[in-house]
Amino acid sequence: MENEKKISKRKIFYIVLSILAVILIISLIFSNTYIDVEKITFKSRDIPESFDGAKIVLLSDYHNQGENFCERLTDIVKEADPDYIFITGDIIDRIRTDVDKADNFLKKVSDIAPCYLVWGNHDKSVSQGDLERLKTSAVSYGITILEGTTVRIQRGDEYISLTGNYYYYDYPPCEADFNIWLNHFPENFEPIAEQTKKDGNQMDLMFSGHAHGGLIRLPFVGGVIGHNGLFPDYTSGLYEYDGSHMIVSRGLGNSGNVPRLYSTFHVVVCELEREE
Ligand SMILES: [Fe+2]
Repeated sequence: MENEKKISKRKIFYIVLSILAVILIISLIFSNTYIDVEKITFKSRDIPESFDGAKIVLLSDYHNQGENFCERLTDIVKEADPDYIFITGDIIDRIRTDVDKADNFLKKVSDIAPCYLVWGNHDKSVSQGDLERLKTSAVSYGITILEGTTVRIQRGDEYISLTGNYYYYDYPPCEADFNIWLNHFPENFEPIAEQTKKDGNQMDLMFSGHAHGGLIRLPFVGGVIGHNGLFPDYTSGLYEYDGSHMIVSRGLGNSGNVPRLYSTFHVVVCELEREE
């Protein structure tokens, strides 16, 4: 009798363990294949009238995904019908360094809308030759690469400024009413907000990536694993700091072979709305 009890307890234990293992496997597959589309409306009085309703798609951390993923992603971007596409780095991956894959991604998205790009730490980790090849391709597709530079995006007589940099302190003065920034690292948000405020023309909105949503996401907690410790501050969605705002994408690929859990791939569609 005692023996029978032991066997049935053991059976229950193994059944529960098997169910948990199946749930974990399904969650891992879902978390590393599904592409979530988040729509964010960003309102500001400083948005020029002709940019009211302009739609921006944010793509980040592609990490050299494969052809099928690229097809699915470009269908999603086409469906969003953006006016501009911002790419915030880690197009290539420091382990999967096939430039043709990254090239294919840039070619396909640049066919959809004007693209603006900043590099991430993985792009900077590949060989100088590979990065040069990628730069040459991007330029040939009409993509604007921002490396400590500011450009104007013009609509009629009105314009906004777009600055992109790798190092937060590397930027020229920008002089528009509405200033957008691209920077791969969300931890650069606060220093850029503070410095631009000091300079007298504060950054309005920054687009970023890098955090991969914190790799593991928990309800009410958000991202768990950061590059500089647990529970990073900026991993996904819209944030505010001292009058500046930032939108962070959870990215579109994985760094090396590190998988995600409940931190799905993330396309952000941001619509600008002029507040009267
Ligand atoms: Fe990344």
